[in-house]
Amino acid sequence: MTATITEATYTSTAEYLKQRIPEHFKNARLGIICGSGLGGLVDTIEQSSKIEIPYNEIPGFVTSTVAGHSGKMVWGYLGESRTPTIFMVGRCHFYEGYTVQECTFPVRVMKLLGVEVLVVTNACGALNPSFKVGDVMIINDHLSMASLVAQNPLRGPNIEAFGPRFPAVSDAYTYALRKLAFKAAFETGIGKDDIHEGVYGYTSGPQYETRCEARFLASIGADTVGMSTVHEVLVARHAGMKVLGISLITNPVVTARGKDAKKEVMNEMGLDSVVDDGIDTDLMTANHEEVLETSARRAEDMQRMVKRFADIWAKENSQ
Ligand code: HPA
Repeated sequence: MTATITEATYTSTAEYLKQRIPEHFKNARLGIICGSGLGGLVDTIEQSSKIEIPYNEIPGFVTSTVAGHSGKMVWGYLGESRTPTIFMVGRCHFYEGYTVQECTFPVRVMKLLGVEVLVVTNACGALNPSFKVGDVMIINDHLSMASLVAQNPLRGPNIEAFGPRFPAVSDAYTYALRKLAFKAAFETGIGKDDIHEGVYGYTSGPQYETRCEARFLASIGADTVGMSTVHEVLVARHAGMKVLGISLITNPVVTARGKDAKKEVMNEMGLDSVVDDGIDTDLMTANHEEVLETSARRAEDMQRMVKRFADIWAKENSQ
């Protein structure tokens, strides 16, 4: 049974954080969850005004155990527009043993701190054969069997103060923000063949997919697969935040059937002469080092793009 997190718990964490941040960051309307690859963004913003609070000092926050996902909240000015922004550097995942409610706790806290637009970023594998390692995908939609039938952060008594019992998510990834993201990408030099729009498929992990699982996800509409993001998006949309999802493709996902052992042995023993033209998929396994390496290589491009996004968004939404 999932322990319910009460409205008062979210509120008291938000109040705690308001005590710790200076007045000029209390009007931050933009929030960014920095997944693998975008953590360095906070090292490139104005350092003198930046405020950092490690997750382990924040009541109710759980801390990430994954390499490349150190956990802290950061307040800083983003882009030339100096847009006040709340960053989550690192996130917690279901596979670490936390509940999806625990993993998404910070999203509701950001809502209470005034965030209206949430940018979620992640690393993922490509199912779509036209996506290359190092490409960017703006998330158009997601596919998550977990939240369809099982682990769902909105399960339990609905907190009306955040949103309705039955929220619509057919517009989960805000169209206007997707357009701004493409504009920002093209303006910062990301080539039109290096950025796509597509469906993010969720898997709880921590293992990468089998070949058959990958084929299944591709066949039901996913372009990529990753182990985060969708629960945060559900909580954000429930609370009325607008969402932009940005994925970095860090590895191809193996969907090939692979070599046929029976054919191979029959050939070797002279029982048949049908040559197996399956490829050796044992040589193509995904690994976490590859994910980190690609993230590091594309980090600067992603950072430029997100800063430009903030500038365009701030210009269009200045009050
Ligand atoms: N599968 C699932 N999650 C991932 C992958 C993948 O191939 N790459 C990065 N995160």
